[in-house]
Amino acid sequence: VHTIIFQESKEPSVLVANEIASLIRTKEAKNEVCVLGLATGSSPIGVYQELVRQHKEEGLSFLNVVTFNLDEYYPMERSNLQSYHYFMHDHLFNHVNILPENINIPDGTISTENLKAYCIDYENKIKALGGLDFQLLGIGRTGHIGFNEPGSHLNSRTRSITLDHITRVDAAPDFLGIDNVPRKAITMGIGTVMDAKRVVLLGWGNNKAGILQETIEGLISSEVPATYLQEHTNTTFILDEGASSELT
Ligand code: F6R
Repeated sequence: VHTIIFQESKEPSVLVANEIASLIRTKEAKNEVCVLGLATGSSPIGVYQELVRQHKEEGLSFLNVVTFNLDEYYPMERSNLQSYHYFMHDHLFNHVNILPENINIPDGTISTENLKAYCIDYENKIKALGGLDFQLLGIGRTGHIGFNEPGSHLNSRTRSITLDHITRVDAAPDFLGIDNVPRKAITMGIGTVMDAKRVVLLGWGNNKAGILQETIEGLISSEVPATYLQEHTNTTFILDEGASSELT
C-alpha cells in the first residue's frame, strides 16, 4: 500500500482521472471492456469533472466501459435528488458516451424479498466480466468503504447493511435532517472491493485525518473496515495535507 500526499485535491484528482483514462484506452486498444468500480460523495467529484473534460475536449470514449457503483441508499427512488443514481448521472454519466446498459448501480427500489437474489446477481455480473479492473473509493468517518460499516467482514459481499449513526449524521445536511436519511443501504462487500485489481482511495480535508491515521497505521480490524486495504497489494491512498495531518 502506498500513500501519496498532495497540497490540495485538484492536482491529484487529475492524476487519478489520467490513470483511469489510460486504463480505458489500453483496454480499448485490445478490444476489451474496462470494468470500473465507482464511488459517490464529495471525494471523487474532481475525478469525474476531469473525466468529463477529457471526454469533451480530448475524445476519451466510454463505449468500452462498464461501471459498478459501490452502493445506494435503501430504500431509494432513482429520481430522488439524494440517490446515488441521480448523483452519478449528474456528475458523470449524463456527460459522457457510456452506454446506459453498461451502468450498474445498486437498485434502491428492489423489494425486500428479491434483495438477496439481486445482490448475488450484482456479484455475478462483476465476476462474469472478469472482475473490477479499477475501484475508486472514498472513506467515511466510521472507516467505511462503500457502506461497509464497522463490523463488516473481510469476506463480505454485496448485501444490505444498516447505516452507522455517524454516517447518517454526516448525510443529514443532504437530506435536510437526519430523520430523512435512510437507515439502510445496499453495498458491495469488503471482499468485492478486495478482489479489484487496482484500488485508489481518495481522502480530502481535516475531518478525515483521524480515520485515515487509523486506516493506514492502525491494526487491521473489522472495527475500521478500511484497514483491510492494508492487505491489498495494489492500493494507493491519495490524500491532501489536511487528510494526512495525523499520520506519524
Ligand atoms: C459513496 C461511498 C462512501 C463515501 C464516503 C465518503 O459511494 O461509498 O463510502 O465514499 O462516505 O464520502 P465523502 O466523499 O462525501 O466524504
